Amino acid sequence: MDNLKLALSSVATVCFLLWARREYSERKISSIPAVGASGIWAYYTGGWRYLFRAPEMVEEGCRKYRGRVFRVPRLFRWDFIISGSTLVQEAVTAPENVLSLAAANRDSLQIDLTMGPDISRNPFHIDAVRTKVTRNLSRCFPGIRDEISSAFDELLALDENDGKLVTVLPLMMQVAARTTNHLFVGLPICRNQDYLNLVVQYTIDVALRAQLISLLPSFLQPILGPFISSRNQSIRQGIKHLGPLIEYRIEQEKQHGPDWPGKPNDYISWLLESVDVLDEKTVSALVSRILATNMAAIHTTSSVFTYALFDLTAYPTYVTALRQEAEQAVEEFGWTKTALNKMHKIDSFLRESQRMHDNGPVAMSRQVLDPMGFKFSDESVIPYGSILNIASRAEHFSPANYDHPDVFDGFRFSKKREDREHTSGGGLFNQHMISTGVDHLAFGHKLHACPGRFLAATELKAMLAHLVVHYDLRAEIEGVRPPDDVFGIVIVPNRRGKLWFRKRQY
Ligand code: HEM
Ligand SMILES: *[C@@H]1O[C@H](CO)[C@@H](O)[C@H](O)[C@H]1NC(C)=O
Ligand SMILES: *[C@@H]1O[C@H](CO)[C@@H](O)[C@H](O)[C@H]1NC(C)=O
Repeated sequence: MDNLKLALSSVATVCFLLWARREYSERKISSIPAVGASGIWAYYTGGWRYLFRAPEMVEEGCRKYRGRVFRVPRLFRWDFIISGSTLVQEAVTAPENVLSLAAANRDSLQIDLTMGPDISRNPFHIDAVRTKVTRNLSRCFPGIRDEISSAFDELLALDENDGKLVTVLPLMMQVAARTTNHLFVGLPICRNQDYLNLVVQYTIDVALRAQLISLLPSFLQPILGPFISSRNQSIRQGIKHLGPLIEYRIEQEKQHGPDWPGKPNDYISWLLESVDVLDEKTVSALVSRILATNMAAIHTTSSVFTYALFDLTAYPTYVTALRQEAEQAVEEFGWTKTALNKMHKIDSFLRESQRMHDNGPVAMSRQVLDPMGFKFSDESVIPYGSILNIASRAEHFSPANYDHPDVFDGFRFSKKREDREHTSGGGLFNQHMISTGVDHLAFGHKLHACPGRFLAATELKAMLAHLVVHYDLRAEIEGVRPPDDVFGIVIVPNRRGKLWFRKRQY
């Protein structure tokens, strides 16, 4: 009997403490409007609703609370979402120790367990992308161009006259993986199918297993997490392909110094130049950086390109102008980075496609690390530890930012550039594919703006130019754009969406 009493009173105490803690945190954020009502039950049912109807709930929040902070219920917590130039600007310029990208990723991707703690603790691979990759793009462009051309040749395997109905996204994964890895690890590994499967699958392994680990109570995560994570297995497979190559590079450097004769111009070399601590100059540490960079690069690039081809075939009238522009530039400058720089229409078309199609209505997660919380200029405070997201889609479709935001206008940005050149003779430098702004968040903005976007834009423009010059593309069903796939808050291009490809008939 006494035991029963004790048990009941313990349960009551725990319930009271949980309730009190919620009440306390609820009061602090009560001035911030909630989507899906904020009563105690709505908090839990809303959390379930958010799992299945997140895009609609974000849209509802942005409609009702435009330019403000609002919150959405997750299971057992609130997440915060902002829209409007003023708040977005404040969030993207807040320092990392106040609003942290690394902490938000550590949380959502369980990075310590799935990718290794060093990835976020010492992100030297990001510096290597930002500086060395970007600055070597012109020099390395011939390899990129060659890989794109041979990848489409081999993967499409078209006869001279026959068309083929091809599932677009998996094809573009392969093309992006080959092209990116031509720059990262070079031939012949960038064409090894087993290696390509590894770098494509890695992203999925990390994301799915992170979800599983997140379902565990936090005290079990470090105990069971390592067995759920595929980290060791992925590193082992990576070493199988890259081990001898990286060992050779480290050995040459030891013998002949950092600028040894014949040192290749690739990401492995740039990583080795950027490592600042000795215990990271190992095969497994470098393999883990190469996998992490692939994770940032491949699904993003292939998703953008798939969306762009769905747009191109939904609005086929753009083809002629894009083709002419590419042919003219190539005739004058050959297949070079300089030629790409002349392709304003192709640049604009891709940027417009990125504006209208994304991987979900929110992006750019941050965790509040300031113990005082994060205070916006409108006085709203979001508490320590919570997650903030930016409603990037709302900015991309805001009439305050764009005329007729719901209309696909492939030359929206190239027209602005040309108008400026005619009226003032100067260029307009905030309308390029790689330009970021509070009105264009596809690559983020300010502090953490994607350091790989120069590479991504180079690959994407070269891929689109190559396709329009050498192929005819057609929608599977005329006028029908394959609908996006939705997984909770994540949206991806239709994975089964198909297009007709045919070699261009001259
Ligand atoms: C079309 C392709 C791509 C898109 C749409 C894209 C988009 C983004 C976005 C939205 C962010 C986060 C910004 C934020 O949270 O504030 C980001 C960050 C990042 N991206 Fe990309 N990205 C692409 C390609 C690439 C490529 C090719 C690489 C590497 C070569 C890369 C490397 C990174 C890295 C390392 C970060 C983290 C930056 C940081 O922590 O400061 N991305 N990217
Ligand atoms: C993964 O590898 C590390 C280092 O080699 C090892 O200490 C750890 O036990 C491995 N984890 C699992 C789950 O196999
Ligand atoms: C280009 O790559 C080389 C090594 O391959 C590197 O030493 C150099 O720093 C890079 N260029 C720039 C401008 O970063």
